[in-house]
Amino acid sequence: MLQSKPLRQAQPDWSAWREEFPGLQKSVYMNTVSLGQLSRRSRTAVNRFLDLWTERGASAWYGFWLAEVDSLRKEFAHLIGASLEEVAVLPNISSALAAISSSLDFSRRKRVVACELDFPTLTHHFLARRSEGLELTILPSPDKISMPLEAFDQAIDEQTALVATNRVYFTTGYIQDVKALADIAHRKGALCLIDDYQGTGQVPIDVKKAGVDFLLTGGLKWLIGGPGVAYMYVRRDLIPELNPRVAGWFGHRRQFDFDPYTLEFRQDARRFEAGTPAMAAVYAAKAGLEIINEIGPQQLRQRTAALNQDLVARLQERGYTLRIPADPNRQAGITILESSDPMMLTRALAKRDIIVDKRPGAVRISPYFYNTVEENEITVAAIDEILKPYQ
Ligand SMILES: Cc1ncc(COP(=O)(O)O)c(C=O)c1O
Repeated sequence: MLQSKPLRQAQPDWSAWREEFPGLQKSVYMNTVSLGQLSRRSRTAVNRFLDLWTERGASAWYGFWLAEVDSLRKEFAHLIGASLEEVAVLPNISSALAAISSSLDFSRRKRVVACELDFPTLTHHFLARRSEGLELTILPSPDKISMPLEAFDQAIDEQTALVATNRVYFTTGYIQDVKALADIAHRKGALCLIDDYQGTGQVPIDVKKAGVDFLLTGGLKWLIGGPGVAYMYVRRDLIPELNPRVAGWFGHRRQFDFDPYTLEFRQDARRFEAGTPAMAAVYAAKAGLEIINEIGPQQLRQRTAALNQDLVARLQERGYTLRIPADPNRQAGITILESSDPMMLTRALAKRDIIVDKRPGAVRISPYFYNTVEENEITVAAIDEILKPYQ
């Protein structure tokens, strides 16, 4: 419950929080960039869902489950500084993207601007729409780490309907200045959509201050909620004019009239929710969000940035090549270690119970608030040991 939250501690008890994640006892888990750890609370919450299913059957929808989706939206709105009516819950980013894009008018302005550092589901969606005449510009990154605002500024023109990009780039950890980007987009008459899957939770965001039109994110990673839930924010004044063509009965204003002849969208962002929510995922996700809100985004950022900078310093001290932003204020909790054989390195680390992740030419190491400096030390020592024969 948001209202009954305990007063935020000056300094959270990080080792107590660590106890909340039993998986951390089994391995040195440095892979939140792929999947956040499962908390005891999420496990208990999913069990509660299963109990309700057994005990109540279909009536669980009305007494409990729909209310749980409501409180999930509330919890998310609180985290990003949105109002409840601006938030919708969908199964994944791709379907959220499809719902929004289906409601936009690309007949006069045909162009969407994205960049090569974006997670590809974003570009894939718009590539699929090229057959309808939509034009997609994918900006190259000059240093393969960051994406300069000037490049967006130059690319956005009077043909551009939408700028769509990530706030934190998944293969470099670079934090984009989305407020400046939204300003550029708006000055040129375009809208700004942010896929913030790698940002929300670990790097604070206030959607009102940022001025973005749409923000998408999900439970898998830094919101420690597992798969099956994505969150959508749509700026309030845009909602009435956006009618998704990817639609369904959960978006209908009179959902339980079961009227097949009319489609009256809900007045709020729930018009983008098409079908039945995956309730087990909703229960897991809400417990994860509660933890994130309880600790608070500022504390999470401080802790994660400190751990990440410690990791970076240890790796750089030993001469490893990192693909990260030079300015630590622009780096999220993702460290990219260049590697000629990421598969070998990832597997050798996994044999030592150290879990990281690989991408082409690199290994991603991503400590979160529940990790420790000692785990950084263990990880770097293991990398040294594995790579010594090759040096
Ligand atoms: C930035 C970003 N966007 C989107 C996704 C996933 O998209 P979807 O929810 O459609 O699977 C990921 C997953 O790794 C991601 O890192």
